[in-house]
Amino acid sequence: MKRSLGIKKLLVVFAHPAREESLAGAIVDAFVSGATKAGLEVVTRDLYAIGFNPVVSKQDWFDGFVGKVPADCEEEQRHVKWADGLCFIAPAWNWSMPAILKGYLDRAFVIPGFSFASDPNGATYQGGLLTHKKALVIQTLGGALQTGFRFGNVADYAQGLVSALHYCGVRNTHVQQFWNLYKQTKESPQMPALIEKCRALGATFDDQDDEALQGLSTC
Ligand SMILES: Cc1cc2nc3c(=O)[nH]c(=O)nc-3n(C[C@H](O)[C@H](O)[C@H](O)COP(=O)(O)O)c2cc1C
Repeated sequence: MKRSLGIKKLLVVFAHPAREESLAGAIVDAFVSGATKAGLEVVTRDLYAIGFNPVVSKQDWFDGFVGKVPADCEEEQRHVKWADGLCFIAPAWNWSMPAILKGYLDRAFVIPGFSFASDPNGATYQGGLLTHKKALVIQTLGGALQTGFRFGNVADYAQGLVSALHYCGVRNTHVQQFWNLYKQTKESPQMPALIEKCRALGATFDDQDDEALQGLSTC
């Protein structure tokens, strides 16, 4: 029998400039459709579509010291607070995340007083404040898995997000990497299986016993 994590509201943060044409776009559609069919309420924040500004300005930098949230990030924080589950979907760019997603973490997500606590001077970290029951990072990669091993530890390519989530209090974080996608299109032979897997990841998001996804999973 399925053991539920009790997740009802899922925030999907999507970072790819071409949702219609990309594999990442096909993945987010399948994931959201699986999650919705399973009864989860889903909000997707497509960072390119909303024109999210990822660059920390001088004003943002000073405001950060007095706990002021940039006006354009308040809405993003509202979505994060609303959700009890999180999913990040993005390609690997230069063995890391696209700049727009890194900027989302910098400006809207990893913010003192919002997602983590520190002492009044901001000098000492005092623990994460987010209470999401689960987070999933889905990362697409152009290279083959062997290529990934040549240049580092493959888990590290998603580690920036995993560490940020952990820092903010979200410990139950899973990573699904899809390798070997260079020059693949939605019509490529392996796509139906990949899309089906993403639909299943959405459908089982609330499942405590989703053994396919303990720690890092690569395909
Ligand atoms: C700017 C840029 C940097 C990239 N860096 C990497 C990389 O470091 N490692 C890798 O395996 N693929 C890299 N790729 C390939 C993408 O990860 C790959 O094309 C993508 O995951 C395929 O899915 P998509 O159709 O959703 O873009 C890069 C692509 C771009 C455009």
